[in-house]
Amino acid sequence: MAGPYSEKVMDHFMHPRNVGELPDANGIGQVGNPVCGDIMKMYIKVKDNIITDVKFQTFGCGAAIATSSMATELIKGKTLEEALKLTNKAVAEALDGLPKVKMHCSVLAEEAVQAAIDDYLKKTTGKGLPGFKPHEEPLEEHEH
Ligand code: FES
Repeated sequence: MAGPYSEKVMDHFMHPRNVGELPDANGIGQVGNPVCGDIMKMYIKVKDNIITDVKFQTFGCGAAIATSSMATELIKGKTLEEALKLTNKAVAEALDGLPKVKMHCSVLAEEAVQAAIDDYLKKTTGKGLPGFKPHEEPLEEHEH
């Protein structure tokens, strides 16, 4: 019998794509997960409204690693508008699903993408993403 994780989740966990720092990033977002306190940092390089490169670093769990890895693949080469439409649900679906108790982990990826775009917009236009409020601080202690 298969475990709680799909093969795709396992693959992205064992071989995460786009891990690390992006020295020439022009948008960097960091968010914390209010449920578990884990942290995710997302670097994007934007040129002519297209995300030409993206990397992430996380202190999150395996599900956070897998969802971020998938999220980076899904937004690479996309416009900012397309990347902003990426939901954690869509990422989880692209991974053939996540266990319910792990859905909160996928929120890190979605919010980190938004935070990076928010940072990019602030740097280039002086105005951030309208209505964007990342969870920067963990709200409470939580067992993994
Ligand atoms: S990201 Fe914290 S438990 Fe998954």
